Amino acid sequence: MTQAQWPEPPGHDAAGAASEAADRGRSLRVRGGRRLEGEIVLSGAKNSALKLMAASLLADEPSTIRRVPRIADVFTMVDMLRALGAKVTFDDGELRIDPSGPLNERAPYELVRRMRASIIVMGPMVARLGRATIAMPGGCNIGPRRIDFHIRGLQKLGAAIEIEHGFIEVTSDGLRGAVVPLDYPSVGATENLLMAATAAQGTTVIDNAAREPEIVDLAKFLMSMGASIHGAGTSSIEIEGGHALHGAIHEVIADRIEAGTYLLAGVATGGDVTVRGLNPPCLELFLNKLRAMGVQVDEGDRTIRARALGALRPVDVSTLPHPGFATDLQAQFMVALSLAEGTSIVTENVFENRFAVVDELNRLGAGITTSGHHAVVSGPRQLTGSVVEAPDLRGGAALAIAGLVAEGVTEVRGLHHVDRGYEDFDAKLAGLGADVTRVEAGGEAGGAGP
Ligand code: EPZ
Repeated sequence: MTQAQWPEPPGHDAAGAASEAADRGRSLRVRGGRRLEGEIVLSGAKNSALKLMAASLLADEPSTIRRVPRIADVFTMVDMLRALGAKVTFDDGELRIDPSGPLNERAPYELVRRMRASIIVMGPMVARLGRATIAMPGGCNIGPRRIDFHIRGLQKLGAAIEIEHGFIEVTSDGLRGAVVPLDYPSVGATENLLMAATAAQGTTVIDNAAREPEIVDLAKFLMSMGASIHGAGTSSIEIEGGHALHGAIHEVIADRIEAGTYLLAGVATGGDVTVRGLNPPCLELFLNKLRAMGVQVDEGDRTIRARALGALRPVDVSTLPHPGFATDLQAQFMVALSLAEGTSIVTENVFENRFAVVDELNRLGAGITTSGHHAVVSGPRQLTGSVVEAPDLRGGAALAIAGLVAEGVTEVRGLHHVDRGYEDFDAKLAGLGADVTRVEAGGEAGGAGP
């Protein structure tokens, strides 16, 4: 296909100053007191889609990825793939990526700054081109977000790595299979190494690999491209590398974090919410915690229904790598714990600083104190509306849930954080009966809401 045949995707363009300012002025106005009920059809998983997009670079043929959520991070990754030389169109949830032309080796700082997950193109690029120059991803509100496991793993596969002037220079005269033990089951490191290993001559074994469902989804896509992979979803993944990969068609798995977020919105409002599109086992420990709180949870064929049957009970929670309790549901869960009749302890084991939302939740009337990796959540608390600032993606979702319960109106500023990872967030909440209004930068209320 020529460039002319690849129409420009709608929506997000490279973030110029103007669109960034508009982004940052967006907020969600929530009027509390409504009981949420109904069904949500889940979008494709953000934390799978971004990696599948990077993996498409491994073939010199077009690939198609379906059920891709229309969220800011996906548009950023579209910008990244185009900056690297791929042709991309994105229509109605279907991404078509053609990386067959000559590819650039440089991932620009501006895009990596906008989304640190861009580091996930490093493995595919060194696999495909034998070299990559990637801007060092910055930290973010939830921690320094190091990449030492990624770098040490690529070195094990024979890559040479220089870090200078804020860029990572990766070169290789041919990757070679190796045993790569991870100090910690890092999701991103597992994914980068899994993709790089498909081009490494011989056998690679990733030990202490991450086991998230998104890893399994990535492995399925790679196998449909012709890769030989065994053990994805376990802590030891074996890859027979060195074969050329071809294009493929793949549908992204449903977003389990989106599912947990809306189930918690229903529970917090004393409601009855069903999410559709995912296999319940991927949220097993989270669902067991809901049951321990006194929530009725019914698992069906690719559906989960959660109903609050009465007062919520306090429970203690520790976040862990999958299949442990997902750190991406920790902030939202603290809102439900703030309504429980008693004190709960939340321990954050995955990220260094994932309690940034606590101060804002306390401004709404929560009673949470933190010390290091622990948060003590006292309840039940009567929340009251106020203006609050989302510190990050999941913190923003948590503040919206708190607003659904708080007396009066809550304005959640920094909605651009939420729009990075939740497709149609306000419309989906309104579809469950919430009184929510999206307010654009300095503009009038618009979008969903009764
Ligand atoms: C992925 O981040 C997700 N992001 C995160 O979701 C999720 O919270 C996280 O996995 C854990 O499940 C995407 O998939 C885009 P890690 P990632 O590497 O890959 C340390 C959301 O809200 N570490 O498993 O960055 C790191 O500092 C986001 O959707 C190193 O020390 O997670 C962190 O403390 C937030 N060195 C811990 O490991 C490394 O080389 C977990 O990181 C890599 C990681």
